[in-house]
Amino acid sequence: MTQPDERPEQVAGTAQERLMAEATPLIEQLIGDKVASGLFAQNPTLWGPEAEPEASIRLGWTALHETSVPVVHEIEALREELRAEGLDRVVLAGMGGSSLAPEVIANTAGVPLVVLDTTDPGQVADALEGDLSRTVLVVSSKSGSTVETDSHRRIFEEAFAAAGIDAASRMIVVTDPGSPLEKTATEAGYRKVFRADPNVGGRYSALTAFGLVPSGLAGADLRPLLDDAHSSAPKLGSDVEDNPALVLAAALGAAHIGGAEKVVLADTGSGISGFGEWAEQLIAESTGKNGTGLLPVSVESPEAPGFADARSDATPVAIGPPPQGVLLATEGTVGGLMLVWEAAIAIVGRLLGINPFDQPDVEAAKKAARALLDGPAVDPGAPSFVDGPVEVYAPAGLLPDGAATLGDALTALQGAVPEFGYLSVQAYLDRIADASAIVLRPELARRTGVQTTFGWGPRFLHSTGQYHKGGHQNGVFLQLTGAVTQDLQVPGRPYTLGTLQLAQALGDGQVLLERGRPVLRLNFTDRAAGLAHLVKAVQEVGS
Ligand code: PA5
Repeated sequence: MTQPDERPEQVAGTAQERLMAEATPLIEQLIGDKVASGLFAQNPTLWGPEAEPEASIRLGWTALHETSVPVVHEIEALREELRAEGLDRVVLAGMGGSSLAPEVIANTAGVPLVVLDTTDPGQVADALEGDLSRTVLVVSSKSGSTVETDSHRRIFEEAFAAAGIDAASRMIVVTDPGSPLEKTATEAGYRKVFRADPNVGGRYSALTAFGLVPSGLAGADLRPLLDDAHSSAPKLGSDVEDNPALVLAAALGAAHIGGAEKVVLADTGSGISGFGEWAEQLIAESTGKNGTGLLPVSVESPEAPGFADARSDATPVAIGPPPQGVLLATEGTVGGLMLVWEAAIAIVGRLLGINPFDQPDVEAAKKAARALLDGPAVDPGAPSFVDGPVEVYAPAGLLPDGAATLGDALTALQGAVPEFGYLSVQAYLDRIADASAIVLRPELARRTGVQTTFGWGPRFLHSTGQYHKGGHQNGVFLQLTGAVTQDLQVPGRPYTLGTLQLAQALGDGQVLLERGRPVLRLNFTDRAAGLAHLVKAVQEVGS
């Protein structure tokens, strides 16, 4: 594999043509090895002997266009039943693979689905303030033990009861057979338990009950999704050179061999809402391990900083028609496109020599957060300094002597980015009320010239968080946290959501620091004022 300091010179425009030329021998190799047909025949040996045990229980997704047909009937029947009772507001509690796909499906179909993949107390409180008399909660967790999802279940159960509603009649569970959540649901008499296909991992579960139940109950028409996947499958399972999954995989593999560690995704009018965030998880969690992988960078548009701007360490991919100069584009309908990307990323795993079906570094952050929650108090200690509504927490050695402003801290963080490194903004905030934080990505990318990603915490911990800790170790991290004005106790647990949220930020920060990565945390003592102050400071970086 090419090392970062051995990267070939690349030129905009011609770099894309060269990429496709470099991909051609890889496509031929994949055809010769019968990888596409092997994948769709669910051959678990494609990733080597170490990955084989996991792969042998993770390839069910290649047949979901057929095996998921019965669950669609069940969902449609339940939707009718709920509608007849006036239950038409669907709230989904789920993380990573258990929420990103249903969000894309529902948003693209234009049906309302409230997605809770946060520990932000304000965001959860807002979801509780919706009309509970019309609400059902879909609790989706493959493992049945994810702390965020379990907390939402507890909070909603209590809220339904407080509103005089029979909570069990409003709870719909999606989980793997035999999970602790299945047990809880059965014991409590929850309305319905969908047992998902256990031979499909979280990020490959878009067309299982995990993707289909919440979006279908919210009103999405599910049959076209499966039909689209059905139409795409024969080509994707064929060892031919115009198989789009082979082409995409070979292009990404060739780019990585050539030194490109990042895949920059821009929507160019696909009509699919949120596909970048879904693909981000698929790419980062599947490939970002053993010190290698592809870092997905989801950008606002093809014109956004960091897309196709002649950098040699990033491959631009258009979701939708290719803009000028970008040859790598993927187009299609939701079901078909998801299957193309799932197949391509599984094949990239083979090209990179990793197991695409595990997520070995996700657990480290969970463990660190748990340890903090089990301790006497989740205490961030004293800030390095305070600049107006922003407390600045920096590790020893990051800030120069006398640093006293946000500008000083941002300049120090920028200076810590290694060549071909990246800057990751991690906002442990309310992704609806604090939505303006997303301007930080393009602003920072433009001002610093560094590839910049943006993720909402703790959602990204189930996505790009794997890459941050397991992939190429050249990231620097800007964590954002904010004052909690209205906290929520997690029933039956000795902590509030606010404490959990802070423990998740501190825990992940701790793991990143232990791995030698710089982490700067900015805490807004007033969220709106703090964000505005930060945006202003970012706009002054480098000027
Ligand atoms: O792809 C994965 O395995 C993860 O992103 C999971 O989907 C995520 O962590 C949620 O897990 P669970 O469905 O077990 O709650």
